[in-house]
Amino acid sequence: MRTQVGIVGAGPAGLLLSHILYLNGIDSVILETRSRSYIEERVRAGVLEQGTADLLTEIGVGERMKAQGLVHGGIELQFAGRRHRIDFQDLTGGKSVIVYAQHEVLKDLIKARLATGGQLHFEVSGVSVHDFGNGQPSIRFTTLQGKSEILACDFIAGCDGFHGICRPAVPEGVLRVYDRVYPFGWLGILAEAPPSSQELIYANSERGFALLSMRSQKISRLYVQCPPDDDLAAWPDERIWHELHARLETNNGWKLIEGRVVQKGITGMRSFVVEPMQYGKLFLAGDSAHIVPPTGAKGLNLAAADVRLLARAFTSFYKSGDTAALEQYSEICLRRVWKVQRFSWWMTSMLHRFDGDNPFDQRRQLAELDYVTSSRVGAQSLAENYVGLPFD
Ligand code: FAD
Ligand code: PHB
Repeated sequence: MRTQVGIVGAGPAGLLLSHILYLNGIDSVILETRSRSYIEERVRAGVLEQGTADLLTEIGVGERMKAQGLVHGGIELQFAGRRHRIDFQDLTGGKSVIVYAQHEVLKDLIKARLATGGQLHFEVSGVSVHDFGNGQPSIRFTTLQGKSEILACDFIAGCDGFHGICRPAVPEGVLRVYDRVYPFGWLGILAEAPPSSQELIYANSERGFALLSMRSQKISRLYVQCPPDDDLAAWPDERIWHELHARLETNNGWKLIEGRVVQKGITGMRSFVVEPMQYGKLFLAGDSAHIVPPTGAKGLNLAAADVRLLARAFTSFYKSGDTAALEQYSEICLRRVWKVQRFSWWMTSMLHRFDGDNPFDQRRQLAELDYVTSSRVGAQSLAENYVGLPFD
């Protein structure tokens, strides 16, 4: 087997990269350990920056998103028993975000790739990457049918997420790791309940953080801060609803609507970056190179921003033989990555309850929220980052 770009992982990064490369006349093959149905159903992120949504439209996979996605022109911040709206459209010159589930984006991308002759191999095993230092790169894997294959390629794109094999394949001592693990996680549920609010509510409460989000006019997505290694068994539905009511409801009569819980899970929270995002002919993109805590809704958007740049660099190479853009990929990506890391860390720090915090820290946190919601400049900074920083 041979291709121009061998892609490990069919998450947002791998699928987007493959489709943009196709549109630019570049051949790729995607290898994925999971099944198509697993990927198309796995519940993850839900908020698309305006730039990510525009990219999906530009590459011809935005139709369902346009029809079913919910455009949000702002969010609510809640603290000290009050809510304050951050009006993105007013603060950013008309920008907004779209609430559209990550697995729906993946369905759209998989459909588009298959309709354009894309080579996607699901349920492969034993994936390993070779000779990307300065030789002829290749990827070894075993197909679903049990056949051992070698995929020869010009480049390898490591789009295999945080637990993938590409980042660990880089020789020791090359990558510098920046890491921070938070002392809490998020317990997330999907509930068959109409969203109790038209917009997302991020709540700082004495009992810990809570977030009200949604997937449609019939399905709510809700989160509460919990211990990072908590057992799901400790969270029967009644306890989850009790915490959500206590953390989200204010004294003004607003009520949280309950519904049947159809999915629940606990996610740990971490900030993580490796530098550089390239070694020889291996390029890392998305979660394989960096992780953000979900408070800024940035994971998927950052993966899309990496891939946009990587696709452009490959296109420039195949059009003119120029390697300059490929050489600059890591440096240019990391500038955005660090700004998004800062924003995600800041949102997380401002909204969660930290066990070791003393009353001073808690008052400082409230002052920060007060500033952000009462100063136009403060609110503008949050809005500018939330809707997505400009690309160039
Ligand atoms: P991934 O989506 O992880 O895709 C990587 C793919 O590579 C996977 O399909 C995986 O199966 C495959 N793979 C792994 N190893 C191999 C291998 N050896 N060979 C072949 N394929 C391999 N972000 C938010 O903004 N909001 C959220 O609410 C949110 N919730 C999340 C919940 C969870 C449980 C997780 C894990 C992440 C969440 N994120 C969230 C983050 C967001 O979903 C990610 O940032 C985004 O999926 C990154 O896309 P990616 O393509 O880089 O990686
Ligand atoms: C979600 O809808 O899953 C979601 C929304 C906003 C976030 C994180 C997750 O910050």
